[in-house]
Amino acid sequence: MPALPGDYNGTLMLTTRQPVLRRFWYATHRLEDLAGGPKAYTLLGEKIVLFLDSAGEPAALMDRCCHRTARLSKGWCKGDLIVCGYHGWAYDRTGALIEVPQFSPDQIVPRIGVHAFRCVARYGYAWVCLGEPLGDIPEIPEDSNPGYRRIQQFHDIWKTAPLRLMENSFDNAHFSFVHRATFGQITQPVPEKYEINETDYGFEAETIVEINNPPPAYRITGSDAPTTKRHMRNKWFMPFCRRLDIEYPSGLRHIIVNCATPVDDGTIHLAQILYRNDSEADCSAQELIAWDAAIVEEDRDILEATDFDATIDMKRKVEAHMPSDRPGMIMRRRLLKLLQDHGEDEVSEARPAVAMPDMPAYGVSVD
Ligand code: FES
Ligand SMILES: [Fe+2]
Repeated sequence: MPALPGDYNGTLMLTTRQPVLRRFWYATHRLEDLAGGPKAYTLLGEKIVLFLDSAGEPAALMDRCCHRTARLSKGWCKGDLIVCGYHGWAYDRTGALIEVPQFSPDQIVPRIGVHAFRCVARYGYAWVCLGEPLGDIPEIPEDSNPGYRRIQQFHDIWKTAPLRLMENSFDNAHFSFVHRATFGQITQPVPEKYEINETDYGFEAETIVEINNPPPAYRITGSDAPTTKRHMRNKWFMPFCRRLDIEYPSGLRHIIVNCATPVDDGTIHLAQILYRNDSEADCSAQELIAWDAAIVEEDRDILEATDFDATIDMKRKVEAHMPSDRPGMIMRRRLLKLLQDHGEDEVSEARPAVAMPDMPAYGVSVD
């Protein structure tokens, strides 16, 4: 498995240069991974440290001690405090310096500290917002529904941009090609259309697609027919979360929730959580992870082969479009408006590879 974000040492560009993106919530470390002590993470290029307080609630601070700048993630937890591993200065979850072990009890600890970020536990992850939040963490009602089980599927680093992952998950034209070895039907390249309803948080997109159903998929789909259908009622939560809600004719629900957390411009952390309305005996978590792992690897392989500088201003004609790209085009329009509403220009170094004349529109305007 590739190194997790705290270990990543790359260059910083683009998404890190759009300050409004700091005002959304992102999934970072899994709570279970913080149980062993503080862990470093890089979010939008910002180096932070995550740790659990004595109540098990996650906290996020800038990963830089105010004494001699040592990374706090090299330290340890003591009750509610995180202790710097260099000289033992200790901070609480608000970043306030609480203990200086070199001082005698009658000396006053100075009122200094390190910057703290908003951090809450949700769906097994520590979610962090680096600024004043513009919205809430996406609501997943199945998480508190006893009819569903939660399976932590993937927690990986991908070398791509978060928009690439978001648009890919609403791109029905890639199944036949990227997923030809799993469920895609290469003889059916013209994809089904999505019905899209825009919302304040992003959009809802509904469609029904026919898929191949090879024997390894029988317990996933609840059917042993050679083909089956996926009724998908999906959601995009601006900027980089999505819910893929698949209902099979068998009544099985396969609901994937993703957060494509921007680590830096060329790197995302893919947090993928699965909800199923069946039991471990019906289809084991291991089987479900293995099945989706093959599909996710197919996506990763192609998305890491795209430019991570995913430009959103379509007037720049860096990329060409076709009708099935409409969800990704709406994302671009909405993200561009988000930037403009907050006084930002798009920061992109992407250039067209060739002179791009106007493509025939084929009715794909998203204005
Ligand atoms: S650098 Fe942290 S206590 Fe000295
Ligand atoms: Fe895919």
